[in-house]
Amino acid sequence: MTVRVPAKVNLQLGVGPLRDDGYHDLVNVFHAVSLFDTVTAEPARELEVRVQAAPHARVAIGGVPTDGDNLAAKAARLVAERLGVDPRVSLRIRKAIPVAGGMAGGSADAAAALVACARLWDDRERPLLSRDDLMEIGADLGSDVPFAVLGGTAVGVGRGERLTPALTRGTFHWVFATADGGLSTPAVYGECDRLRAEAGRAAPWPGVSEELMTALATGDAKGLGAALSNDLQPAALSLRPSLRRTIDAGRDLGAIGALVSGSGPTCAFLAETAEDAGDLAAALDGAGVAEQIVRATGPVPGATLV
Ligand code: C5P
Repeated sequence: MTVRVPAKVNLQLGVGPLRDDGYHDLVNVFHAVSLFDTVTAEPARELEVRVQAAPHARVAIGGVPTDGDNLAAKAARLVAERLGVDPRVSLRIRKAIPVAGGMAGGSADAAAALVACARLWDDRERPLLSRDDLMEIGADLGSDVPFAVLGGTAVGVGRGERLTPALTRGTFHWVFATADGGLSTPAVYGECDRLRAEAGRAAPWPGVSEELMTALATGDAKGLGAALSNDLQPAALSLRPSLRRTIDAGRDLGAIGALVSGSGPTCAFLAETAEDAGDLAAALDGAGVAEQIVRATGPVPGATLV
């Protein structure tokens, strides 16, 4: 059972106040892009996880746990529990999504494991677990997991886990600049709170950008580029000042939109056409402002059996 699962970029990440449970209320416009991890699930004597870089992908997998802490292993245990079976499965994860890169790679692997294990253990004719059930189980594993199951483009509220699909038209062309070394998501949220407190600013209550939704619905790349926003960007730049150079380089080299992806440190650039994306990728590569330059398009489907 092999499942392919996409990375995400946040087209809008509006961060509201810190809640009592340690999370922030969000308005999170997720967009799945064609940069994929795969997870292969096979019957085994006990639960085991192996992680490797996907062929041709330069992904540093050093930080990914291979024990019970791996989100995919946790996903397998939750599915087994719900179906009343033992989690006797070997999970092989092949990564092309940067680790701790702000593109929800760990959440993607969890989503893929949910789909793969459900397929392995659930009744084929009358499955007990629907796609919605898997998204609900996924929400317990991480705020971004339900979206990795769903894919496409969607607006997330709450922790980001309550999703509504968004209307989009056509395909958008992206260039991603990865960085050496990840950023910790809790640290970036913490820095966001700290910067707001320092400036004496209360956290705003975020709302969905109308400009963004219109640009998506009409397939207007320039409008989308102008409407991209990320409230975590100042915090990511504060913790990793070198990202400013990367963002500026992308803008100077013709990107029609540029922002830090999620909690970073990956930076995302929008191009108007596939050809422009090729030119931008080549120019960014030459500028030496990133560890690796990767092209992708969106939206693409969520975790899918291959
Ligand atoms: O849900 P997930 O485990 O992916 O979140 C990782 C961390 O990101 C949380 O522990 C929290 O510090 C931060 N976070 C947050 N508000 C959210 C989502 C995540 O503060 N809505």
